[in-house]
Amino acid sequence: MKLLKILVLFITIQISAQQGGMWIPSLLEGMNEKEMTALGSKLSASDIYDINNSSLKDAIGHFNGGCTSEVISPKGLLLTNHHCGFSQIQSHSSLENDYLKDGFWAMNLEEELPNEGLYVEFIVRIEDVTDKVLHGVPDSISEQERQSIIESNSKAVKKATVIEPWHGMKIKSFYKGNQYFLFVTERFEDIRLVGAPPSSIGKFGSDTDNWVWPRHTGDFSMFRIYADKNNRPAKYSKDNVPYTPKHFLPVSLDGIAEGDFTMVFGFPGRTNEYLPAVAIEQITERINPNTIAIREAALKVMDVYMKSDDKIRIQYASKQARIANYWKKWIGENQGLEKSSAIANKRAFEAEFTKQLEAKGLDTKYGYLLEAFDSAYAQLDSVIVKRSRFSEVFVRNNELMQMMFRLTQMENAAQKGDEAFNKAKEAIIARLKGIHKNYNANVDKAIFKAIMPLYTDDVDAKIYDKTRFTNLDSALVVLEGTTVEVLQKLNADAAYRYTKPFIYEFYSQVEPRFQSINNTINALQKVYMKAQMEVLPKQRYFPDANSTLRITYGQVKGYAPRDAVYYKPVSYLDGIIEKYKPDDYEFDVPQKLRDLYQAKNYGQYADSTGKLPICFLGTNHTTGGNSGSPAIDAYGNLVGLNFDRVWEGTMSDYNYDADICRNIMVDLRYVLFIVDKYAEATHLIDEMKLVHPKRTEIMEVNKK
Ligand code: ARG
Ligand code: GLU
Repeated sequence: MKLLKILVLFITIQISAQQGGMWIPSLLEGMNEKEMTALGSKLSASDIYDINNSSLKDAIGHFNGGCTSEVISPKGLLLTNHHCGFSQIQSHSSLENDYLKDGFWAMNLEEELPNEGLYVEFIVRIEDVTDKVLHGVPDSISEQERQSIIESNSKAVKKATVIEPWHGMKIKSFYKGNQYFLFVTERFEDIRLVGAPPSSIGKFGSDTDNWVWPRHTGDFSMFRIYADKNNRPAKYSKDNVPYTPKHFLPVSLDGIAEGDFTMVFGFPGRTNEYLPAVAIEQITERINPNTIAIREAALKVMDVYMKSDDKIRIQYASKQARIANYWKKWIGENQGLEKSSAIANKRAFEAEFTKQLEAKGLDTKYGYLLEAFDSAYAQLDSVIVKRSRFSEVFVRNNELMQMMFRLTQMENAAQKGDEAFNKAKEAIIARLKGIHKNYNANVDKAIFKAIMPLYTDDVDAKIYDKTRFTNLDSALVVLEGTTVEVLQKLNADAAYRYTKPFIYEFYSQVEPRFQSINNTINALQKVYMKAQMEVLPKQRYFPDANSTLRITYGQVKGYAPRDAVYYKPVSYLDGIIEKYKPDDYEFDVPQKLRDLYQAKNYGQYADSTGKLPICFLGTNHTTGGNSGSPAIDAYGNLVGLNFDRVWEGTMSDYNYDADICRNIMVDLRYVLFIVDKYAEATHLIDEMKLVHPKRTEIMEVNKK
């Protein structure tokens, strides 16, 4: 009888609770709290965000501005993805100590490795400052004037805000400039590498499996936050000590089952959910195909060189991963937008919007918007392709072009005088040193030959044999001397002479035109956002992601990618063995992991059927920046580590669809298993707090 009662308790009742959206953690009371409870959460809004007491938010850190991380021990142990710590792991790697290939584990504090420049930032509190920031901003002024009033208001708000000397702050725009929030932050700068599995675990499946389910990647790495002796942020010092956090996440050993509530807490970067249909059309038909083609060409070249030379493999690992990642994402995004009929759905939404405008007598106020978008996007069409190609060639994929792009910026700075010039010169010198750490001129030249024809007919690869910039020492010689001398030498360089006209064309024609049309679009988008909320108030509106702290929630759930196929939400170690290809660069499996599998030596980390879970799926609405975000269970414990989305659902950045959009998380039991059984870094397990929330709940039900 009792057992039955418990079973009934655990069978998830099909609830039509709403999902999707990335919500502001300080505003969960009301709708979000109710939806979360309906999905199975036992947490209150103040368990998640509280300014007076410690709460879950205190464990969540923005990792180097791009990823998310969370504190998982009272000694400042930090968990994030392998791909988030990738460049740090790479920077400590060499042919002799290949941590990328073999993994790295500090067996005590002394062995933990400092990382210059790496930081982790926490949110101390969030304040709505909309009224102050928009104070005295009239409706009918140019976008530029508007921005300048907003800027000076923001400065005044910051000046009037009282913070501790070691805190920072920033103000960010929400709902397309209709709302503003101030964030008080605390930034730690002594972050040391504690551990990383070998890439054959942390990046298992590599590009073939990237953005794909079923997935078996152990995408995690560990760092530690160090603070000064007062537990405050400090620059690296050997006297710093492990940070004592305001909150750390306990880790659940009970794991998840289909239907369980999960929430993902982190720093999503950018979404665009409120675009008009014409914008989606432009993205899928004009922008994505071009950027995909350029990256594809660059990747083909890198691939050949990386496979033939280990040194190049290490040098290009991080760059290749970055380029491949979005190349594949855009392909999936286009397919998903098409399959989910995103454009047709947006048009239907717009028809309803227009109908309601008329019904509500708001036609004169907002009726112009959609046509104005049509004409603005039609204008944008003339520059947007060129601009995206430029950024792929001169900023992302070719390093000599990138150097030239930055050098023209330095030359431009000379117009502002010697001081500006010298500052720009210092910046470019640092950049050149950074690039040359991992530079191979042959690879770069081959990339140039492959992608430049996609930008221009005027392709001249001979510049690679003449320029001084394919070698750091000769590049630095060009930058020696007075402003006049430097510019003279620079303008005599073959690569610079070749590149300069492209860059001038970009700055004199493409960019100004883009900026002016984009200003118009932003102004329209602000009004359109407000109009949607006013005209169709029953819809759920969350602010687009903007690299600020957000909550998204949902359930563990599989999905049907196509007819007759259903994907279950959990993958197991058995699947790694199924995928295993000896010596393959993507699907090799370390001997020790195979041995542990043979012996079924899973310790306390197997699930109730005796299998070891690896990854799982949820309906949480995530995006880039949510990498490394904790997946938290109904009780506030860590159960998973977010690292990806499924390919069919990557269009969620423009069009979240709960039927098909899934985020992918590593099961924390797999993380612990690797740390404990594979790496034998048991001292790390010992400092965590492992809990059994489901067992505890059963015990409590029994008592009643
Ligand atoms: N797709 C995930 C993300 O957007 C993981 C990327 C890891 N990189 C890779 N090339 N496998 O960041
Ligand atoms: N891997 C992504 C990141 O680096 C997260 C996956 C996504 O875009 O959803 O943030």
